[in-house]
Amino acid sequence: MELLHEGKSKQFFKTDNDEHIIIRFKDDASAFYNIKYAKIENKGKMNCAISSALLSYLAENGVKSHFIEKLDDTAQLCHLVEHKQIEIIVRNVIAGSMAKRLGLEEGIVPENTIYDLCLCSKDLSDPLINDHHAVALGLATYDELKQIYAVSERINELLTALFDKAGMRLIDFKIEFGRTANGELILADELTPDTCRIWDKATGEKLDKDRFRRDLGRVRETYEEVAKRLLYALNK
Ligand code: TMP
Repeated sequence: MELLHEGKSKQFFKTDNDEHIIIRFKDDASAFYNIKYAKIENKGKMNCAISSALLSYLAENGVKSHFIEKLDDTAQLCHLVEHKQIEIIVRNVIAGSMAKRLGLEEGIVPENTIYDLCLCSKDLSDPLINDHHAVALGLATYDELKQIYAVSERINELLTALFDKAGMRLIDFKIEFGRTANGELILADELTPDTCRIWDKATGEKLDKDRFRRDLGRVRETYEEVAKRLLYALNK
């Protein structure tokens, strides 16, 4: 298969169908724009299982994404989309960069859900932007942003309920959107412990990539635990 692009945690391959792509999840983990790097055994397999299960669950509940099917342990068949160069971070609890930037304690629960918009630019470290910046830069129209926020809200409702059932709190997550060949704007991203912040409901233990970022240990075991709990909650 022809490799179209290789990212930090995934490879993208061409298929016979121009509208499809194969995405393979790797064991590589990196943080702080590649300052920190490691291989975590089984991460590709766990992330593929988790993301496939979550995107199927969203589809069953009316949220379309690029995901078509899981092909094997580490690969997904997906629709090829034109990616919007923006990331949406949905925050239910203050943590990570927001806590740091605003000098807030991690763990504060705000009354409203917080939506951060970031420009996808590794050179600029994915800076925070607002709706008007996104429109001025030609990244999205106000109408598209309205759609993106509405779908993000629905995704948050669905995922929060599922994680709760699996004994976990969904603290925050990052998603991206893309446009399909027929012009539809859809979710086009992974949903994994790399891109979601997840805390154990009972103990508050961190169950996501912060274990790697912050040297908390048991990274592999944590990804395996999240996969086990989610697949069980989904009866898979
Ligand atoms: P942050 O608190 O560092 O801004 O991260 C918020 C959420 O977004 C967290 O769940 C991790 C995820 N995220 C990514 O998926 N990719 C990224 O490049 C960054 C910075 C965060």
